Amino acid sequence: MPGGRVLKGRVLSFNGDPSLEGPQAVSFWERGAVTIEDGTISAVGNDRSVPESVSVTDYGDRLICAGFVDGHVHYPQINIVASYGKQLLDWLTTYTFPEEIRFSDPEIAREAAKFFLNELSKNGFTTAAVYCSSHPVSVDAFFTEASVRNLRMIAGKVMMDRNAPEELLDTAQSSYDQSKALIDKWHRKGRNLYAITPRFAPTSSPEQLELAGALFKESEGVYVQSHVSENLDEITWVRDLFPGATSYLDVYSKMGLLGPCSLYGHGIHLSDKEIAMAAETGTGIVHCPTSNLFIGSGLFQYQKLREAGVLLALGTDVGGGSSLSPFATMKAAYEISQLQGISLSPETLFYAASLGGAITLNLGDRIGRVSAGYEADLTVIDLESTPLIRNRMKTAETLRDQLFTQIILADDRAIRATYASGELIYDRGA
Ligand code: GUN
Ligand code: ZN
Repeated sequence: MPGGRVLKGRVLSFNGDPSLEGPQAVSFWERGAVTIEDGTISAVGNDRSVPESVSVTDYGDRLICAGFVDGHVHYPQINIVASYGKQLLDWLTTYTFPEEIRFSDPEIAREAAKFFLNELSKNGFTTAAVYCSSHPVSVDAFFTEASVRNLRMIAGKVMMDRNAPEELLDTAQSSYDQSKALIDKWHRKGRNLYAITPRFAPTSSPEQLELAGALFKESEGVYVQSHVSENLDEITWVRDLFPGATSYLDVYSKMGLLGPCSLYGHGIHLSDKEIAMAAETGTGIVHCPTSNLFIGSGLFQYQKLREAGVLLALGTDVGGGSSLSPFATMKAAYEISQLQGISLSPETLFYAASLGGAITLNLGDRIGRVSAGYEADLTVIDLESTPLIRNRMKTAETLRDQLFTQIILADDRAIRATYASGELIYDRGA
């Protein structure tokens, strides 16, 4: 095993959804060792002695987990996080669109991509489904920086040909041509994956959505990402703009934009019929809890959608979302379900932020587990990162209680290290 690497610590991994499969969905080694070779996990088990040629990092009592997965986030909005006092449609016109206009400048895009990816790594994320701006240079900047870090990222150029400032508009044909060129340039180059990204139905003409559907059909292994049913005024607007559709999700369905490689942010106000349509088509819905609270969009029905068989992920949705932390995101998901009388378990939340998200992103056979054969995307969590957490951990006797303490109290100070493809990309101790 020359040149390999071993990480030692407490190791936690999921093999399935703990809310459906119970305790056997959770693997845990109190004194564990993760062996990495050529960017891939080659073994996981109890701590043992290793040959001297292998580099060993001992994280002691810290928890080694799969890197977190952010199923929905906008990198050009990193500078407008925490913008006051608006709900979705006004928030877009007041803060978001003016900021995204700046991403026609490759230097601005490159700096923002760097900052965003550094923040993501610092928070323990190793994969995200990312919206760029409508400018192809913003996609080049993002994938260039993702490639430097060897991260597994999904991203794409926002398509929008109406109801937005002139500087952000493309046309149905130019958005098709630009997206196609970006697929040729970036999709499956290294670990990069492309997502065809019509922003949401109100900013696309039917022709643009039709061409997005055609491109999806003709491009092997690419994704589609968009927004659905986030805000009540938005839903009314979609009904007016697309009178021939039976529902918001049906707009996308008619254009061939649903399926196992499709990711839709929010889905707060979906009807039972739309929920069934998402489940039947294998379309992923990404719950963005801090965003739903911050811009006042509503309470996502996590348990209802899960029980209906919908594939779910968690998303930060920065800058609508108020935090790039997986802990803040899990905490807000917990609180939103609490308001509906349902207590999501800590295991379910950690699963949703890792393997569950990976499965919904159609990557469940490559990332999201600490298991032999999986890509070595890992995060190391310090379970006693602040005095308050250290104090609370004294009485947190079960793994469940320890995970819950992190969900409620931890922030980026708890992320000790992040590895992408077996390489250390963030080290809090450094
Ligand atoms: N709907 C359309 N665009 C956006 C966006 O940028 N953020 C959020 N939260 N919702 C949207
Ligand atoms: Zn969004």
